[in-house]
Amino acid sequence: MYIFVVIFLLTVSLTTGQPGKCDQTPPQATVDTPSENKGTFQLTVDTKEGGLIYRPDQTYVLILTTNNQTRPFRWFMITVEDPGVDTEPDFDHRTVDVGSLKTLDTHRQSRYSERCYNSVENTDNSDKYRVEVHWVSPKQPQNDRKKSVRLRAMVAENSEVWYIGDNLTVVLEKDINKPLDSPPYPVISVCNLCSEARYEVIFKGKWSRMSHPRKYPRKPDDNGYSHLVGASHSYHYILWQPGDKASPGLKKLAEEADISDIEREIIDAMSLTNGTRTLIRGRRRHHPDMFEPSHSLFRVDRIHHLFSVLVAMKPSPDWFLGATKFELCTDLGWLEESEIPLYPWDAGTMDGISYESPTSVTQPVDSIDRVAVGSFNQESPFYQMNLNDLKPFALLQVRRLAVYPLPEEDCIEEEGMATGDDGKAEPQTLSLREHCEVRGEWGPCVPHNGRCGDGNQMRGSSEEEALRMTCQNGKNGRRVETRSCFMECNENNMD
Ligand SMILES: *[C@@H]1O[C@H](CO)[C@@H](O)[C@H](O)[C@H]1NC(C)=O
Ligand SMILES: *[C@@H]1O[C@H](CO)[C@@H](O)[C@H](O)[C@H]1NC(C)=O
Ligand SMILES: *[C@@H]1O[C@H](CO)[C@@H](O)[C@H](O)[C@H]1NC(C)=O
Repeated sequence: MYIFVVIFLLTVSLTTGQPGKCDQTPPQATVDTPSENKGTFQLTVDTKEGGLIYRPDQTYVLILTTNNQTRPFRWFMITVEDPGVDTEPDFDHRTVDVGSLKTLDTHRQSRYSERCYNSVENTDNSDKYRVEVHWVSPKQPQNDRKKSVRLRAMVAENSEVWYIGDNLTVVLEKDINKPLDSPPYPVISVCNLCSEARYEVIFKGKWSRMSHPRKYPRKPDDNGYSHLVGASHSYHYILWQPGDKASPGLKKLAEEADISDIEREIIDAMSLTNGTRTLIRGRRRHHPDMFEPSHSLFRVDRIHHLFSVLVAMKPSPDWFLGATKFELCTDLGWLEESEIPLYPWDAGTMDGISYESPTSVTQPVDSIDRVAVGSFNQESPFYQMNLNDLKPFALLQVRRLAVYPLPEEDCIEEEGMATGDDGKAEPQTLSLREHCEVRGEWGPCVPHNGRCGDGNQMRGSSEEEALRMTCQNGKNGRRVETRSCFMECNENNMD
């Protein structure tokens, strides 16, 4: 049996709610004091990493359950709050980011509360054994190092017996061991989603004299970012990573802001079964348009479920911005959206202390590392700074645009992984049955808007090509591959 359960998510957007701590007493209660729970009712959070920590801008599943099948609950409320609310009677919820709760609309068990901020509650009086709600943790905060968030639930068996407190309250601390610029989800080796997805990646420059005054280049007219370049790729492919030596393509990009070689490396690694899938390429931005976003579209699938990108900074010895092994395949499906700050990395090929300081070839070549944030060299733009004090040099956003379910015959369902008794979708473990090699020349680059700029190109569409395609299971197939491309603007095609 193979059932697709479509989950509609609604995001909380509350304009109502009282200042101060939410009073979760059920409106139907005839007894003012809560009863003692003794572990029957429980609020749990699956934090994946284990422990009571959360990472920014990530979706967590909150589960409210009864441990005794003869004792369901009828009413409930779940509130997410800053523990500071306990000591400030006029606490203004609008000034703190505690993330947002999302009700899962499949069972229509929960809705947003009108009594309290950042709270969901029951929609009806039916008996409940298990309720799930999603919580999207706060976005990457810029400077606050430590931030805890409290998840607090109330359950009521009837108008006389209701509970709060022990087993129904969870306090999570922000994971400060992870650098601010790490992608939200850990990398996984096998992606079992039975679909492909299309994404948009947006690079937004933030390097300015205002935010990064120290050693800011004297001739900002020469400032610029290179093209945005990268790829969606498999678990095994590495475009760049800290601790590795830069590839020749990365060296050329970091030193000269020239993407030609790294682009060739990415294209040469294209494969349906490993390596790269879509080439990511976005416009380069120069002073005075350095804050204009640069974007590109790309596709991911069960094999190519990660992406990595790079942007060189000019002037600089060999510095670049970027993300590596950004995981998009999660337990909850393809990641919807995320934003991370970017800080400069040093390709390890040129020595130089500051943006414009004299450079010399690094001998022997170093591995890729962060620029020396916290440097004790007075010439450094990051003199005695800490990553948490440093303003981002750019923001990287990724947004899911579409999901394409794979044809059923390409997904094989394993035993015992069907839809659960309670109608809840269980993770589907499926495998791709067929790999077809797409061959042939890439077609012309078709810009999304107008006659130049970002666009797409295709290959493998003709009947003749389909016949030449080799598939693992011996059959011939027909497949189209699409990748992002960029049509340079010149006098002949400018609008
Ligand atoms: C419920 O809370 C009590 C007190 O904090 C704790 O001792 C007990 O282990 C908890 N029970 C469960 C099932 O987590
Ligand atoms: C479940 O609740 C019933 C009714 O309160 C009680 O008699 C029974 O002992 C409970 N079962 C367990 C396993 O706690
Ligand atoms: C992909 O490439 C890596 C490294 O070259 C190799 O270890 C791995 O086995 C390959 N995987 C597949 C499915 O071919």
